[in-house]
Amino acid sequence: MTDYSPGGWERSLDGLAEGLEADLPGRWGAAHCLQRVDSTNRRLLESSTLIPDRYEVCVAREQTAGHGRRGRAWLSSPDASLTFSVGRALWTGEAADPALSLAVGVGVARGLERCGFSGFGFKWPNDLVTADGAKLAGVLVEARAAREDRLAALVVGVGLNRVGADTLGVDRRVADLSQLPGSAEIALPDLLRAVLVELVRAWDGFARSGGLACVAEDYARLDYLRGRKITVLDTGEEGIAAGIDHGNGALLLRRPDGLKRLYSGEISVRVRGDD
Ligand code: BTN
Repeated sequence: MTDYSPGGWERSLDGLAEGLEADLPGRWGAAHCLQRVDSTNRRLLESSTLIPDRYEVCVAREQTAGHGRRGRAWLSSPDASLTFSVGRALWTGEAADPALSLAVGVGVARGLERCGFSGFGFKWPNDLVTADGAKLAGVLVEARAAREDRLAALVVGVGLNRVGADTLGVDRRVADLSQLPGSAEIALPDLLRAVLVELVRAWDGFARSGGLACVAEDYARLDYLRGRKITVLDTGEEGIAAGIDHGNGALLLRRPDGLKRLYSGEISVRVRGDD
């Protein structure tokens, strides 16, 4: 149950830092739990306390300027959505890698599965969708460059619909956790903790092993696009999705003239019949 009393929302997350520390000792920096912020991603991208070996967290009940890929606004509503970001500074010599959004997407999915949710998949390059393609969550990875006063860093933001997605006024099909098969009533702090821990495990695995091998099996299991006929937005190219290149996260598109690789960047794809 959400506590609506003044300060109640923040209080309900009082034990978050301790819970995270118990699950993954020594891996966490500050955890900011805010009633309202423009964007949790922006908040962490401006943080002066990001360091390479610990993940800092920002979770907000409400975002006034949440944003997603391709410059789109991310609409969410207090208590119906979960909006949070996690970030850390880059290690020396580490570069931002677009395939990270695939690894952390699998991490988010694993967290939801740990909480008993099922009936969803991962849609390359950054969405969790239901079995019929309605969007449940989006992942946004953003990078900042180094400056004199701060290290280069990466921030992963997640927007997850918990209930009432149909009231958000989004111009595409959306879904929420309450619509998933077997969905249990789960307290916000438990949900957040499970998702954060699995996200960071996947991020660590990706960064330390240098690629997607650590999530390959789950990616294949969760792959929403595989075998579907898709169209690349912007170019109109069509083909059948054939999994990903585990070396670089490119989407494999089977076309009459051969296999084509699509690199995530700003590309989005549409499944025929989904919209
Ligand atoms: C997308 O689907 O385009 C990605 C959406 C990511 C939204 C989350 S909500 C928390 C974090 N803060 C933001 O401003 N964006 C991300």
